[in-house]
Amino acid sequence: MPRTRGAWTPRRAPATVRASAELELPTQPTRPGTLITIEGIDGAGKSTQVDLLAAHLGARGHHVVATREPGATPLGHELRRLLLQSEIALEPFAELLLFLADRVEHVRRVIAPALAAGAIVLCDRFSDSTIAYQGYGREADVARVRRWDEESRAGITPDLTLLLDCPVAVASARRRHATDRYQSLDPAFHQRVRDGFLALAALEPTRVRRVDASRDVAGVRDEIERVVGTWLEERRR
Ligand code: TYD
Repeated sequence: MPRTRGAWTPRRAPATVRASAELELPTQPTRPGTLITIEGIDGAGKSTQVDLLAAHLGARGHHVVATREPGATPLGHELRRLLLQSEIALEPFAELLLFLADRVEHVRRVIAPALAAGAIVLCDRFSDSTIAYQGYGREADVARVRRWDEESRAGITPDLTLLLDCPVAVASARRRHATDRYQSLDPAFHQRVRDGFLALAALEPTRVRRVDASRDVAGVRDEIERVVGTWLEERRR
């Protein structure tokens, strides 16, 4: 007999997310470094901006570690191929667990050591992607996705998140052709993901800063440098 108890039960995500004790993130361990995550829908231009920001902060004398999810560790490399390039069908819960397995390895082997060494870690996608894609995008139980995500990141929470936000049509025009599992999903999926990111930004406006990513590369770069510069300055005080 197949077990049904505890099975993954996708259902419609709530249209709005209310702040509640259940949604609050745990206190993170004290560490000298800074974790900045960069989020957004496919085609928002994150990777380009991570490279530019890493160069900008590096030129100002910061110790910067630029990394990404999925795929920054040896296991992550294999998981990335499986998640993005393979045509193997994945149950939504299996998909979630594979992204989280990538995060477990990434946090423990890359992010936590870099933070302990005092680096500014720039991470191209992190937990908000999981909540936006596997929660909102897949129309799963968002609170449940959050709980699983919390287990994976060992109390590490981003200090600052840059949400590169633009309309789905603008992002998909930039992508030109679909090259992986998520890019080939329909616009309605990407719209749910965008709405999910915006809901997360509304829920945690201090941590998550929306950047208008519909502008050209230099315009987005200038805005990011301004936001991060001000944020680092305020933190020093
Ligand atoms: P990414 O490397 O940003 O794609 P690209 O090479 O196009 O910039 O991310 C890979 C894909 O993985 C992206 O479509 C989003 C998806 N993803 C999730 O669905 N959940 C997650 O937790 C993460 C980290 C990524």
